[in-house]
Amino acid sequence: MPRAPAREKTTRSQPSSEAVLSIAPAPTLAETAPLAVAPAHITARGVSVDFAHDGMVQRVLSGIDIDVPRGSFVSLIGPSGCGKSTLLKVMAGLLTPSEGDVTVAGLAPGEAAKRHMIGLVFQEATLLPWKTALENAAFLLTVGGRATPKDVALDKANEMLRLVKLEGAARKLPSQLSGGMRQRVAIARALALDPEVLLMDEPFGALDAITREEMSRGLLDIWERTGKTIVLVTHSIDEAVFLSRDVHVMATGPARIIETLPIELPAHRDEDTFNLPAFGEAEAHLRRLLIQGHAGERA
Ligand SMILES: Nc1ncnc2c1ncn2[C@@H]1O[C@H](COP(=O)(O)OP(=O)(O)OP(=O)(O)O)[C@@H](O)[C@H]1O
Ligand SMILES: [Mg+2]
Repeated sequence: MPRAPAREKTTRSQPSSEAVLSIAPAPTLAETAPLAVAPAHITARGVSVDFAHDGMVQRVLSGIDIDVPRGSFVSLIGPSGCGKSTLLKVMAGLLTPSEGDVTVAGLAPGEAAKRHMIGLVFQEATLLPWKTALENAAFLLTVGGRATPKDVALDKANEMLRLVKLEGAARKLPSQLSGGMRQRVAIARALALDPEVLLMDEPFGALDAITREEMSRGLLDIWERTGKTIVLVTHSIDEAVFLSRDVHVMATGPARIIETLPIELPAHRDEDTFNLPAFGEAEAHLRRLLIQGHAGERA
């Protein structure tokens, strides 16, 4: 039985932290079990989202099924307006689907978010302009019912700024930082909560090509060191292939997943990865799918 059209929850902020959690060094990729046999960390089953609009109901997502293995890095790619952000919001517990179910570590996403298991990074860094980079990175730890003591939160934020290579900018205000630096502060802020799951919606969309590549490598480095489960929404085919273990390709009308492409590249990715035949093949395949998706949209 379909539920009522989806309504976005009013709070988009992440939950406050109840305790400072340190990011334990993750096992290296070689030490972990193959991702294919790892249990799913995020699952979506038959997820549909309807939005009510001018008295009409628009089906935005239709019958989405996804399994994201624990510790994996997956991307969602698809035409603008196809529902990528909507799906990410459902996974974050910010939006209740009209049909179907999503779980994060076996929990409803809202419950997982309450337990600080989910970190969110959006395209805009949304930093507090009057706070320094360090205070911004500590912010989510210091607010809420059972906030972390400020000095402990600042220590944790310092550690995260080092992780995103911004320790030298800790005392600067957002207006004194470049777009890439602001985005790294936003990533540090999400990581400070030590979430198991990092959901990122076009986090590098506003950056120039070179900064974007640097940020991609930095994110990969963080992922390899922390073993978090990462879901990335991106419009960049290169970025999706370079970073992901699986790429979920979405199409419009209403959005559904048309293909999940496993990226058959070595676990460790670096400069040489771009030159591998498998990289070019995956890129060409995704390009064809996206062209089909766009053609379907115009038809
Ligand atoms: N709160 C909302 N109320 C009504 N319609 C919405 C709402 N949020 C999104 N939509 C509609 O849902 C569809 C999918 O939007 P969504 O933002 O998920 O797309 P997207 O794939 O992230 O696009 P982009 O790549 O441009 O960011 C669009 O048609 C959009 O207008
Ligand atoms: Mg979007």
